[in-house]
Amino acid sequence: MQKETILTGDRPTGSLHLGHYTGSLENRVRLQTQHQQFVLIADLQALTDHAHEPEMVRENVLEVALDYLAVGIDPAQSTICLQSMIPELAELSFFYMNLVSVGRLERNPTVKSEIKAKGFEKNIPVGFQTYPISQAADISAFKATLVPVGDDQLPMIELTNEIVRKFNRTYKPVLVKTRQLLGKVSRLPGTDGNPKMGKSLGNAIFLKDSPDTITKKVMKMYTDPNHIRVSDPGTIEGNPVFSFLDAFGKEEEKIADLKAHYQRGGLGDVTIKKYLNEVLQEFLRPIRTKREEYEKAPDHVMQLIKTGTDKAREVTSQTLSEVKSAMALSFY
Ligand code: TRP
Repeated sequence: MQKETILTGDRPTGSLHLGHYTGSLENRVRLQTQHQQFVLIADLQALTDHAHEPEMVRENVLEVALDYLAVGIDPAQSTICLQSMIPELAELSFFYMNLVSVGRLERNPTVKSEIKAKGFEKNIPVGFQTYPISQAADISAFKATLVPVGDDQLPMIELTNEIVRKFNRTYKPVLVKTRQLLGKVSRLPGTDGNPKMGKSLGNAIFLKDSPDTITKKVMKMYTDPNHIRVSDPGTIEGNPVFSFLDAFGKEEEKIADLKAHYQRGGLGDVTIKKYLNEVLQEFLRPIRTKREEYEKAPDHVMQLIKTGTDKAREVTSQTLSEVKSAMALSFY
């Protein structure tokens, strides 16, 4: 198999949840053994819609790093790095801005729905509208060929490839094309039945949730609103309990039986939720234990980030110098 360069990352605006796991963390843990992987904590991107909460973003840098380590991103195999300490990324973004039209940015469906959800209306920060350019800089600075992220990130990958093509055609062929890798479950629903799990939607189960919190969230989960009596036939489509069992359960036969039983009637919501609770407790226990170990050594974790960032800059500064020379910007 050919060794690829992977660049992926998250905005540090909160700790990571099960949707992050299925959408991308699972792939990152799996791929790190065979490829060269950089995992970027995108604090500058977090500031594009949290300009007034720099302390919150700062605190979440450590939180996200802890989540990475907890799920098994191994600093000996993956390079965890911090966006704000890689100035080449900001510089590249500035160059790429000349290659993208305002109209092109305004058509980005993910950014469009975020603008709506955040209520920016006519006061969209320029940094927010343009963050897909900065994301293209992140990806192309590492010459990454593979980006394991959730399906909402597809528009960013498309824009990256447009910029790469345009840069290479306009100047010199320095940058490389990339592609997205979706998780097996690229979109995990929220506990409320919303098709997407999200921190701001209040429907997330976090990787660091306590056993009690997990139980409470599971027992309150949305199911089939028409499944009133145990004897009623129930629907499994759009029923998050079954989506979660599909994503995290190991006993495939048992899950298939439960689905059939639920659909024909006679299986209560409490029974399936109790089973899901067991499944999630078992899945999250080792993650939480590992997280607690690293939580005791925050300085060590920050040091891992620093070492990773230094290593990342060796790559990004090389790309930047190639970019500048292609753009006739190397003066001395
Ligand atoms: N946009 C991503 C998110 O919201 C974070 C991110 C920033 C990213 N730069 C990236 C993801 C580069 C992949 C590659 O989570």
